[in-house]
Amino acid sequence: MAPRSVLVTGGCGFIGSCFIRMLRERDPEVEIVNLDLLTYAGNPENLPGIADSPRYRWVRGDVRNEETVESLVGSADWVVHFAAESHVDRSTAGKAGAFVDTNVYGTFVLLDAVRRLRPECRYLQIGTDEVYGDVAFPQMPDEGAMLDPSSPYSASKAGADHIALAFARTHGLDVMVSRCTNNYGAYQYPEKMIPLFVTNALDSLPIPLYDGGGQVRDWLRVEDHCEALLLILEEGRPGEIYNVGANQEPERSNLEITEMILECTGASASLIEHRHGLRPGHDQRYAVATGKIRDLGWAPRADIQEGIASTVRWYAENRGWWETIKSGAYREFYEAHYGRPAS
Ligand code: NAD
Ligand code: TYD
Repeated sequence: MAPRSVLVTGGCGFIGSCFIRMLRERDPEVEIVNLDLLTYAGNPENLPGIADSPRYRWVRGDVRNEETVESLVGSADWVVHFAAESHVDRSTAGKAGAFVDTNVYGTFVLLDAVRRLRPECRYLQIGTDEVYGDVAFPQMPDEGAMLDPSSPYSASKAGADHIALAFARTHGLDVMVSRCTNNYGAYQYPEKMIPLFVTNALDSLPIPLYDGGGQVRDWLRVEDHCEALLLILEEGRPGEIYNVGANQEPERSNLEITEMILECTGASASLIEHRHGLRPGHDQRYAVATGKIRDLGWAPRADIQEGIASTVRWYAENRGWWETIKSGAYREFYEAHYGRPAS
């Protein structure tokens, strides 16, 4: 049944904003409440044209705050929990406390409010394939595989998944968990590999490729991810986990993605700066079996080469969006992490 009211957390971030834009387009009547604290990664400009909609409300608040959350869950038919600390490099750089706090405790606060005030709603926990850890080729973990997270980020996301599933089993809540591979596309904060490399290439700045670039991520276009999430919300079964991924064939290494970016931007390969030691515990490969979400009728639409090309076009045409970010607090983390100025 179509929801009348949806509570989205983290809707000013990369994937949450895509989800809101897609939900709004599908159903102009649905009421959307976006609970987002606006950390460094949140940006209301990721929701152009939405802010003025009478059926949209942004609450600047913290998912860890019981009162705030209690005031919002009461009328939600769906609760879709994106809000998180999401960057692996920040989690390994002595900032892991924020990850445990937001990702684990924040998830608990939200679920506990749902349990007390809105137990009949559908709750979707937005998870990551990184909880399965470093996966040797050619393995493809399915939803029953053991969790073996490597970074404080992925460990905190595994903790959140466990809490969500425990609330399903213990309290009978209609909770589901999605676990998606790396996303790319418009409005991604330029600290993640693809938007960082694209924007640096557009400005002829060094491209910091870690550890030789042989690592594999199963890059999925953000719109494909959000379509899978809508399908899970519409058709998924309570208490279930759904992996989501492109299953790229052939698998693409970070170096190959970098070469695509160089080709699309026309930048020189001499910009590649090989860096070592910036990603302790660096996972070599992520991959997931996606039979379960495909059985629901989902398949990714975007081809990786076309997806990278159109993503490069978006960043080239929307310089104002990322130049504002890159000239702000972004510089502090960049300089501390990469040991050089961001521009
Ligand atoms: P993001 O960092 O772009 O956005 C996170 C958003 O959450 C921001 O708008 C931020 O302001 C908000 N937020 C952070 N802490 C908050 C708090 N305490 N209270 C309220 N809001 C808060 O992240 P993203 O890349 O859009 O990822 C969204 C979700 O998807 C995360 O849960 C992430 O773990 C998961 N995920 C991401 C990827 C990926 O490739 N980016 C892949 C799979 C899963
Ligand atoms: P990232 O975009 O941070 O996503 P995740 O760590 O969640 O997979 O990193 C993707 C891959 O890109 C990962 O193998 C690390 C690599 N990487 C670089 O080579 N250089 C960089 O500056 C960053 C941020 C990532």
